[in-house]
Amino acid sequence: MTTSTPALLTITRPDDWHLHLRDGEALDAVVPDTARQFARAIIMPNLRPPVTTTEQAVAYRGRILAALAKAGMDEDHFQPLMTLYLTDNTSAEEIVRASASGLVHAVKLYPAGATTNSAAGVTDLLGKCRPALEALQKQGMPLLVHGEVTDPTTDVFDREALFIDRVMLPLRKAFPELKVVFEHITTKEGAHYVRDAEGPVAATITPQHLLYNRNAIFTGGVRPHYYCLPILKRETHRLALVEAAVSGSPRFFLGTDSAPHARGLKEHACGCAGCYSALHAMSLYAQAFDAAGALDKLEGFASHHGPAFYGLPRNTGTLTLVRKPYTIPEELPYGATTLVPLAAGETLDWRVQA
Ligand code: DOR
Ligand code: ZN
Repeated sequence: MTTSTPALLTITRPDDWHLHLRDGEALDAVVPDTARQFARAIIMPNLRPPVTTTEQAVAYRGRILAALAKAGMDEDHFQPLMTLYLTDNTSAEEIVRASASGLVHAVKLYPAGATTNSAAGVTDLLGKCRPALEALQKQGMPLLVHGEVTDPTTDVFDREALFIDRVMLPLRKAFPELKVVFEHITTKEGAHYVRDAEGPVAATITPQHLLYNRNAIFTGGVRPHYYCLPILKRETHRLALVEAAVSGSPRFFLGTDSAPHARGLKEHACGCAGCYSALHAMSLYAQAFDAAGALDKLEGFASHHGPAFYGLPRNTGTLTLVRKPYTIPEELPYGATTLVPLAAGETLDWRVQA
C-alpha cells in the first residue's frame, strides 16, 4: 500500500469474493458498478432455477460478459469467477467437470430454506452430499457456506452460532482438508471460530455487517433496505467483525454479498433479504476501516487475502480512494424498475477515483 497524501489511498485492485449479479436486465443494471471497482468477483449461483451444473455456469458467465460488453467493458476490466449451487444430488463427476473447466472456482452450500432462492438447497449435508464433498476436497475447490441453521423454531439471531456446532464442526471433522469459506459472517462466534480453527478455513465479511448493528433495521420504523440474511446482529458482534477484518489475518477477506432487489420487493409486507452495496462497496469498506483507525489493513483484506485462499494471483492494477465526501444516491435504475442502495442518502468520507 502507498499513501501519497493522507487524502489518497492506493491499493492493489480488489476482488469481491461474494456477489449476486442476477440475470437479464437486472444483470445489465448492476454489473458495471462492480466492474468499476473490482477486477474479479465470485458470482453466486442462486438464480431461478439455480446454477447447478458446469454447463449452466459457463452459459451464465457468457451472459455476464455480454452485459459487461454492453457497458463498454471486457475481461480486462472484470472477470466473473463462477460457482455451482450444491444440491442433495450434486455428483462427484459434476465437481470434477467444474474444476476442469477452469471457469468454476467454488461450490455454494445453501441450507434448504435459508435465504433467497434456496428452496433447492441441501437438506442433509453429511447425509446426502458426501460424494460431492469428497470431490471438492480432492480438487482443492472451496466450499462456500451460508452458515445458518434453518430449523424454523430457532431464533433468527441465533442461527449462525448454532450452525457452527451443528454443521461446521461435523463437516470439518469429516473433511479436514476441505477448503471452507464461512460466507458473510455476522457474529462473534463466527469470527472467533474462523480465527481459531485448524485447517483451510476463511470468512468473508460484508460492508453492512462492519458498519451497522441490528438497530439500523428499526431506527424510527422498519427499514427494509437494512434487512439481509444473515440478519444484522448486536453491537458486540459488529465489533468482533471489525476486529477480525482489521486484524491482518489472511483468513478474513472482502465479500460484499451485494444482493439487488427491486424497491417494491424490499418495501413490501414480506420484503426480500439483501442489501445493494456494489455501487459504493469500496467507499463503505474504507469508511469502516477508517473508523477503526486501520486504513493500512484495507489492502490485505480487499486485495491480498482472497486470492491467496483461492490459489489465484493477485491483481496487477491499482485502485485509488480519495477522501472526499460522497453522498449515496436515493435510488438507482434497475431494469424496468428501481432499487435503493445500502445507506441511501448518507454521506461517506471516501470515493473511488475515476
Ligand atoms: O440477504 C441476502 N440476500 N442473503 C442471502 O443469503 C441471499 C441474498 C440474495 O440473493 O438476495
Ligand atoms: Zn449472498
